[in-house]
Amino acid sequence: MNKRKYIIDTDTASDDAVALVMALRSDLDILAITCTAGNLSLAKTTRNARLSCTFADTYTPPIYAGSDRPLVKTLVVGENVHGSDGLGDMFYPEPDIQLEKGHAVDAILEIARTHEDVGLITLGPLTNVAMAILLDPIAMRKITHIIAMGGQYRMTNGCTANAEFNIWVDGEAAKIVLESGIPITMVPLDVCYGEAEITAEDRAYLKNLKTARGDFFVDCNRHLLAYNQRSYNKDIISMPDPTAMAVAIDPSIVTGSVDVYTRIELRSPLSYGQLIYDFYDRHKKPANVRLITRIDAQKFKQLVFKCAEE
Ligand code: BDR
Ligand code: CA
Repeated sequence: MNKRKYIIDTDTASDDAVALVMALRSDLDILAITCTAGNLSLAKTTRNARLSCTFADTYTPPIYAGSDRPLVKTLVVGENVHGSDGLGDMFYPEPDIQLEKGHAVDAILEIARTHEDVGLITLGPLTNVAMAILLDPIAMRKITHIIAMGGQYRMTNGCTANAEFNIWVDGEAAKIVLESGIPITMVPLDVCYGEAEITAEDRAYLKNLKTARGDFFVDCNRHLLAYNQRSYNKDIISMPDPTAMAVAIDPSIVTGSVDVYTRIELRSPLSYGQLIYDFYDRHKKPANVRLITRIDAQKFKQLVFKCAEE
């Protein structure tokens, strides 16, 4: 059977790192990892993508550096959430894996032009993808679909009262992607919390595996754990990017979704980056987003655990 081919675009911090390891230990064929600034500066996200491939210990797709800032806004990073190195302030040693020459946006376009049946998984702000669409919308129409960790409908993760970080960091880029015509599956914050949260018991399970990856999954997220304890009084690691990756690896994890016409607010200082879902079909526009509303959280966790085994 042919493996499903994907490009992963990431602003690699601690939950992206787990997602990358999962992808490289799955049946997916990852053609490239393209990095953007977001959680961290571009220099740090590219370093962490290289480190994640070391921990995956399977194969290393070409890794490219891309946009170092959003299209319009000033970059706001999330080091307070993931640590100054983005990996729980573990300060892992410099990986041997090197970056590929060339820009991430060119790499995305080259793959879109020369391959068939390639999808995109996005784990960060959509700057690289939007740039690729602006440069060559026809080539990007060949991308079969985008699975994006992004957005929210009831909750937020603290950057504002009504927006999710990846979308909020570069709302202008999100607008370009939403209007691109590429089918989008959106994995919003709402399905990444609750039963999908990595509890103390789950962390003990991962640690008890006594594998490099089990340790990595927990340790690199220790700053995120402390952040959740401090900010929300919750003893959990939230794993948005691994949740989106799990949807790509095993689509049967999705147990609820709705196709919906989705826009983004960019002008209001109160609501910049908020996704607006037309659930009542008032605009009579075709749906541009398949919004995931429910997942099988136990299945998701089993997948995370499996990827941490030797
Ligand atoms: C998203 O923001 C980042 O902190 C995570 O890596 C994830 O991609 C969740 O809002
Ligand atoms: Ca991310």
